[in-house]
Amino acid sequence: EAAPLIDPFGRAITYLRVSVTDRCDFRCVYCMSEQMQFLPKRDLLTLEELDRLCTAFVERGTRKLRITGGEPLVRRDIMQLFGKLSRHLGSGALDELTLTTNGSQLARFAEELAGCGVRRVNVSLDTLDPAKFGVITRWGDFDRVVDGMAAAQRAGLKVKLNAVALKGVNEDELADMVAWSHDRGMEITFIEVMPLGEEGGDRSDQFLSLEEVRSRLGERFSLSPLAVSTGGPARYWRVGETGGRVGFITPLTHNFCESCNRVRVTCTGTLYMCLGQNDAADLRAALRSPDPDAALEAAIAEAISRKPKGHDFVADRLAAKPRVARMMSTTGG
Ligand code: GTP
Ligand code: 5AD
Ligand code: SF4
Repeated sequence: EAAPLIDPFGRAITYLRVSVTDRCDFRCVYCMSEQMQFLPKRDLLTLEELDRLCTAFVERGTRKLRITGGEPLVRRDIMQLFGKLSRHLGSGALDELTLTTNGSQLARFAEELAGCGVRRVNVSLDTLDPAKFGVITRWGDFDRVVDGMAAAQRAGLKVKLNAVALKGVNEDELADMVAWSHDRGMEITFIEVMPLGEEGGDRSDQFLSLEEVRSRLGERFSLSPLAVSTGGPARYWRVGETGGRVGFITPLTHNFCESCNRVRVTCTGTLYMCLGQNDAADLRAALRSPDPDAALEAAIAEAISRKPKGHDFVADRLAAKPRVARMMSTTGG
């Protein structure tokens, strides 16, 4: 068994996020421009290449794989990739195979995902108001997403909502969203909006501190901190009234880079060692070289050896042009 990947700051890299497509059937206003130019298919890693890449990480100690996009469930034949990757659950090499989705295709794929060993899904949902949902996603269908979440639950999957907290957009309904999700047996995590890409322009008018949100939630609910972790960046609190959990992802108000355990790869095989930095490694070149397994292994080890300490998003620079020009839809978060 190969030694696990350790970065220059002593952090073990055990969580890989893999974007399988840059496409999405929605156009969330903070994530993609309406006139999005998508990549030509030839630039994408094939499903075989994605499997080889994930497997290389698993062999170097990755315990958690998250499939992202764009919207991962719009990638053609994506269930074949889940099917292949599930062998690493079977062998015990992997603890978790999961995905982050907008929910639009969940009703169709929930059973198959469960059959591949997926046990939980994170679904992006920023509002409970169908009209507002239509504005945020530009043309998303709220009922379809809610049906997708229900289908996932019927298939035995745990569902967690991801909601980006947006000033003046959903700030008035965050407490209702906690009650709504807990009523349905789902968890919810709030996220601070991050300055990635040009979309949304000046984010200082959207940014809502989760310190603020948590204190407002405290007026309606009794919250107690939990020591649990899912291996992701969220810090969880128990809601006394509902018995459910609420998570907070606070890149701006409480940097969590010190405990970072993850890297992400785009659908073209570009490995970003940090969500908030531009440095990257080209794994597609390694995958397409004469000895792909050896080249991949070397490229991955070299990339991890220069993983940066963390992002430098700061709340008082949100009005400035983002230093990370790529959109969240490129890296899947
Ligand atoms: P769990 O396994 O449920 O903990 O999921 P997760 O939080 O790891 O993944 P998810 O895809 O649900 O991500 C939720 C949010 O966290 C997204 O907005 C991501 O962009 C953000 N996020 C994930 N990893 C990082 C990170 O390393 N840095 C920053 N700044 N944000 C991250
Ligand atoms: N800041 C914070 N979260 C974002 N997401 C997309 N763009 C941003 C941003 N600029 C969220 C989505 C999804 C997750 C993968 O990332 O809502 O839940
Ligand atoms: Fe699509 Fe997700 Fe980006 Fe919204 S946040 S446009 S659902 S990739």
